[in-house]
Amino acid sequence: MESHVQVFLNKLSYASIAVATLTFFFLYLQTPETCVDPSDSNPKPHSRFPTSTCDFNPRYYASPNKRNRRIWSTKSWTTAVSSYAAFFKTFHISNHSRALIVSAGPGHSVVAMNELGVADVTGVELVDSPPLVSRADPHNLPFFDEIFDVGFGVYLDRALFPARYVGEIERTVRIDGLCVVAVEECGPRDVEKILRLFKKSRFVRAKNVTLAGEFRTGIIMKVESST
Ligand SMILES: *[C@@H]1O[C@H](CO)[C@@H](O)[C@H](O)[C@H]1NC(C)=O
Repeated sequence: MESHVQVFLNKLSYASIAVATLTFFFLYLQTPETCVDPSDSNPKPHSRFPTSTCDFNPRYYASPNKRNRRIWSTKSWTTAVSSYAAFFKTFHISNHSRALIVSAGPGHSVVAMNELGVADVTGVELVDSPPLVSRADPHNLPFFDEIFDVGFGVYLDRALFPARYVGEIERTVRIDGLCVVAVEECGPRDVEKILRLFKKSRFVRAKNVTLAGEFRTGIIMKVESST
């Protein structure tokens, strides 16, 4: 291509970039007209009830701590925590245990375990809820083998791959440790089926319980071998 044509084309692209940038800033700085009603005589449109998303009141920022404290003081939170605590009391967990809770949700069960005296509790869920629950995939737990004394899968019935879910809890719990899972309340025949998901644990007991207001069946297993 001839060089003066090239130079011309270059200039043209610089000019286009400049125009685009200016247009962008102009649009950015300008208040969208749709948000302002010119016929509105009220000098403080924000002081009345918002009628559209354009017409909003700024909300004050609540720090995560403040938000958590608010949630943790609600009745539904404390009842849920007590329901988990009541269930945990039905099997022995020493205060020095390392506990893992999978599908911990917002962390009711983590707090329940803490309140019973177990300090070392790791709660995981697909969506984290700091500081109680961190993010991890229940089907692929980021923990070494056999490091926990007790593992609790709160929602085995919601797992995408139940065998894998159980396998991961079994893998991370030590021999003679407890693997506990909860499912929607079910009878002995369904419990039978769930037991088949466990490859290295023996059945201790099943128990119908109310957890966070839901009728559930808790199944308690003991890990026997490392294979
Ligand atoms: C375990 O911790 C709880 C709560 O802190 C306490 O009441 C209980 O006495 C402790 N149990 C043992 C055996 O230390």
